[in-house]
Amino acid sequence: MGRLDGKVALISGVARGQGRSHAIRMAEEGADIIGFDILEPIPGSTSEGATEADMAETVKAVEALDRRIIAKKADVRSFDQVKAVADEGVAELGRLDIVLGNAGISSSPSAADLISDEAFMDMVDINLTGVWRTVKAAIPHMRAAGNGGSVVLTSSAAGLMGYANIAHYVSAKHGVVGLMRTLALELGPEMIRVNSVHPTTVDTPMVMNQATFSLFRPDLENATKEDFAAAATQMNLMPVPWLEDFDISNAIIFLCSDEARYITGVTLPVDAGVLVK
Ligand SMILES: NC(=O)c1ccc[n+]([C@@H]2O[C@H](COP(=O)([O-])OP(=O)(O)OC[C@H]3O[C@@H](n4cnc5c(N)ncnc54)[C@H](O)[C@@H]3O)[C@@H](O)[C@H]2O)c1
Repeated sequence: MGRLDGKVALISGVARGQGRSHAIRMAEEGADIIGFDILEPIPGSTSEGATEADMAETVKAVEALDRRIIAKKADVRSFDQVKAVADEGVAELGRLDIVLGNAGISSSPSAADLISDEAFMDMVDINLTGVWRTVKAAIPHMRAAGNGGSVVLTSSAAGLMGYANIAHYVSAKHGVVGLMRTLALELGPEMIRVNSVHPTTVDTPMVMNQATFSLFRPDLENATKEDFAAAATQMNLMPVPWLEDFDISNAIIFLCSDEARYITGVTLPVDAGVLVK
């Protein structure tokens, strides 16, 4: 008996990192997956692009659990692409119960007055508008089925507090909270619950790269993961540098399970205490 037996989940950014972990954990709990990812480098992003090989690894892991996965290449900046994924996935798997707006980027840090128009708009287009497009593509399917459902939007601790030098990221992630609250209001009467999760640093390719190491340790010429760990630990209340991807997946599984059947409109930190520090 899984906690998500018979459900189908649409997940953006499924090729690697948290998206892959969510797909695997959801499959372990009995869900089938409709997943998509841009599978290309994004100009201005601080991490390398996810690849076809990354996606293949996600597919292999889900199928090893005897669950089905429809995995597509699509960009959250295109509603047509996202809609095609949702439509084809539901046609294949027969239903849609869960939506995870997870895809996102981080880009070069700088003071708010020095961020370019382009960098700010790209960030919002992916990390906020892309989340809205993902849910928008899913709503008609959930509504038509009449089974209710659960939507979880991945914000960040940076969606509930400010961080210097990433005004574009912080703004987009705060925007996700407004989107979540509005969707919760609009969809609650149809028994579709909408919540957001707010992770502190998570051990994924988004942060495990030289750009991030150097950002946190500008005093060092060649900062390493260990150097970053010391700085990252300082941010958290609990003495850990970062969380594992499955820590976020477990919170999301809870929100999508019947255990959370009357929880909606909630901002759930998974943050080792950052927000109370
Ligand atoms: N890693 C962290 O420390 C951290 C902390 C808080 C919140 N988050 C958020 O968690 C979410 C997942 O990030 P992650 O840590 O797994 O990073 P990640 O870089 O490992 O994964 C993000 C995935 O999203 C995909 N993606 C990016 N832009 C896309 C687009 N335009 N269309 C489709 N797919 C796209 C990428 O290709 C990648 O596979 C993001 O929204 C991120 O902002 C991350």
